[in-house]
Amino acid sequence: MQPATDSNVGTPRRQFLKQATALTAGSVFYIARTSWAQKSPGETINVAVVGFKGRGSSHISGYAGLGKKGEAVRVAALCDVDSSVLNKRAAEESKGKEKVEAYTDIRKLLENKDIDAVSIATPNHWHALASIWAIQAGKDVYVEKPVSHCVWEGRQIVKAARKHGKIVQTGTQARSSREGIFGGVKFVQSGALGKIKLARGLCYKRRDSIGLAGSVQEVPATVDYDLWCGPGPKGDLTRKKLHYDWHWTWAYGNGDLGNQGIHQMDIARWFLGEMALAPAVWSVGGRLGYKDDGETANTQIVYQGYEKAPLIFEVRGLPQKKGAKDMDKLRGAGVGVIVECENGYVVVPNYNSAIAYDISGKEIQKWQGADDHFANFITACRSRNIEDLHADILEGHLSSALCHTGNISYRLGEQKSPEAIAEEIKAQPFAEEAFGRMKEHLKLNEVDISSDKLTLGPVLKMDPQAERFIGNDKADGMLKNKYREPYVVPEIS
Ligand SMILES: NC(=O)c1ccc[n+]([C@@H]2O[C@H](COP(=O)([O-])OP(=O)(O)OC[C@H]3O[C@@H](n4cnc5c(N)ncnc54)[C@H](O)[C@@H]3O)[C@@H](O)[C@H]2O)c1
Repeated sequence: MQPATDSNVGTPRRQFLKQATALTAGSVFYIARTSWAQKSPGETINVAVVGFKGRGSSHISGYAGLGKKGEAVRVAALCDVDSSVLNKRAAEESKGKEKVEAYTDIRKLLENKDIDAVSIATPNHWHALASIWAIQAGKDVYVEKPVSHCVWEGRQIVKAARKHGKIVQTGTQARSSREGIFGGVKFVQSGALGKIKLARGLCYKRRDSIGLAGSVQEVPATVDYDLWCGPGPKGDLTRKKLHYDWHWTWAYGNGDLGNQGIHQMDIARWFLGEMALAPAVWSVGGRLGYKDDGETANTQIVYQGYEKAPLIFEVRGLPQKKGAKDMDKLRGAGVGVIVECENGYVVVPNYNSAIAYDISGKEIQKWQGADDHFANFITACRSRNIEDLHADILEGHLSSALCHTGNISYRLGEQKSPEAIAEEIKAQPFAEEAFGRMKEHLKLNEVDISSDKLTLGPVLKMDPQAERFIGNDKADGMLKNKYREPYVVPEIS
């Protein structure tokens, strides 16, 4: 359903979709180009925010805040497939100011040649297609994490950005902690604590049941459901809430590993300095402690077997113990990163600081501070230099892909007894230790894993250069989604 304010009204919808289908079949969605070369340095950068029920709202206020500080940037357009979200905010943002254009369909937004940059905070399954279409239309892009819904998509955004010379920032704002986390990264990489033994990413973040719908649910009348589903499957709505709870479905989300966890996955990989996927990955976990319509794991370990030092990621959606409100912590971090080195360790407990400890646990140095990630994007839009970006799309692709490969192993797994799992992972001491703590945590939540079994995924070997699995066709087939016309993510050569 199109809201009255939608600028699509000028184009006969059927004709437009027909054109779009024909064009996307040729793998390029053509739209008028914005010419950055013609912009003078002080000229206003017009940003369009796409999807803003949740996170996108901070995009709007982020750019508006920069404008208030005197930066020549303005939110000139908004796009959301839910007219109840769109109309209210478009009216608010236009009050007493220049009119903010409102769009339901991103394709119509991208035809607006006055828009220079597009800031995307839609659900994950839309990230790659929206980014690539925007790049092809000549726009710079800020895209939320995870930048992709599957591994292949992320690489296509990188290729499109390079091919068209566009600036593409990933929404991993911890990367803008230059005085903080980056200080810790440089310290560790200087060898000050000896060699890195292990990087741990932690996502201990409470996630309650989303309930059981029990029957097909009605899509809110204000939502254009075909557009909402976009490149994903268009099936019946079988969860109570359309918005937000998609995070816990495989069709549109990537679980907490690819939601909160991608931030910490990215920080952990930043410390390791790895610029490719790991040559081996496996995962163990389950959706435990309640029965609901969610599909993704709420309790999970992912082992990324980098040769120099592994990256182990832990997800816990259940609290410290049954009925408790608090979440677990490890070395003071709950949603954070711990980098274990020969002579000490560094803890990143939040998005803006890092603390180094010696081997006895005594604090030896601390770094703190964060820049504005949106401001960094705008700076790079002006300089046209991707090296000015704190979170270039390549970084976003690699860290998102580490979440996806972990989930692929998990989804290909089999339910096993705790003893069988312990036996299979015992060659990897760090994994065995993490699994031991996972078992204890589940016990405290009164989850009996001898009956409510955990799923252990296979060890998947990866060719990091090709970004393809080796010797496992099933896993390989899960690196790329199947798309629904006309929402096909194009292959970029
Ligand atoms: N960087 C961060 O700290 C951070 C924090 C929260 C969420 N996020 C990311 O932001 C994204 C959005 O998450 P959320 O929790 O706000 O989700 P949400 O479901 O609450 O909101 C998504 C919005 O996008 C709209 N939408 C869906 N498809 C669209 C399309 N094709 N075009 C325009 N609008 C569309 C929906 O109507 C909705 O208003 C996710 O990818 C999430 O991972 C990032």
